[in-house]
Amino acid sequence: MDINTAKSKVSEVGFLDINIDPSLDLFQAIQDLKSKKNAIVLAHYYQEPDIQDVADYIGDSLGLSQKAQSTEADMIVFAGVHFMAETAKILNPSKKVVLPDLKAGCSLADSANPELFKRFKEKYPDHIVITYINCTAAIKALSDIICTSTNAKAIIDSLPKDQKIIFAPDKNLGAWLNKQTGRNMVLWNGACMVHEIFSLEKITKLKHRHPNAKLVAHPECEQAVLDHADYIGSTTGLLKYTMTDSAQEYIVATETGILHQMQKSSPHKTFIPAPPNNACACNDCPHMKLNTLEKLYLAMEYETPEIHMDEELRLKALKPIERMLEISREAGLVPKD
Ligand code: 13P
Ligand code: SF4
Repeated sequence: MDINTAKSKVSEVGFLDINIDPSLDLFQAIQDLKSKKNAIVLAHYYQEPDIQDVADYIGDSLGLSQKAQSTEADMIVFAGVHFMAETAKILNPSKKVVLPDLKAGCSLADSANPELFKRFKEKYPDHIVITYINCTAAIKALSDIICTSTNAKAIIDSLPKDQKIIFAPDKNLGAWLNKQTGRNMVLWNGACMVHEIFSLEKITKLKHRHPNAKLVAHPECEQAVLDHADYIGSTTGLLKYTMTDSAQEYIVATETGILHQMQKSSPHKTFIPAPPNNACACNDCPHMKLNTLEKLYLAMEYETPEIHMDEELRLKALKPIERMLEISREAGLVPKD
């Protein structure tokens, strides 16, 4: 199949739905395509283990943005969700950015509609808008500074104490940051479906059965869960904490994909996913998990689905991302180039 036929097939379902020879060694085939096409595979910690194992770089949202900005590859294969691949395209317009499944969205990004957000902003004309990176390019274009869970505190702290701030779209992260920074930011009412699913009651029972286990949680979790956490941080923060801390058991309140790197980095420790409030596997992000190794291979081979962006929108969305990277460099959170 040629690349143009492949593109038209993708427009129907969001990914290339074609059969792959079952005897193909996908790991080797992906490695070969990397060299042939000078491609880099960037993966978020929430991707399935096979994808993490084939990636050139695995990281949190900040690390992935920085890597997307600094790479010399011709093609960025983004194993994550749409807003992440979109951010890579905003930072690197001349490069081809492909996402294995275009429908890999994000409930948090979906919770901020640009029209409604514009009206919300108008109610607070003297406020600076700090927006979590989990949002669309249209929301980024309406923001002053983007942040991730790794740099949010440093970004807020870099502003004068009396500066009024709107924080969007995650109300849980925003409330936690208000406590951390002593601010009273106005919060947009959005949330992540995965991080709101944890059951404090089930976590408490689990802690009784594992009295020495520490609870580590992502700040997108609800306040009730965060109040019981021994450590709160971004995915990179959680991973590093479990590597350096002396406990042997951890209950992990974030998407389950992170357990793969935790277990690889600390093979003798035990990691237990925090239980959701029903019998589903809802602590697996249904968006992140739309990507598979097969779709990744096909995206590389046929260079589609590709991220495209209107140049005017890109330039508007770029400004607050650049401010984020600048403050992060000054705070030593990303390498100074
Ligand atoms: P971080 O990896 O930046 O902590 O973000 C978590 C997340 O929810 C990404 O979708
Ligand atoms: Fe979005 Fe939550 Fe999935 Fe992250 S885990 S991509 S915030 S829905």
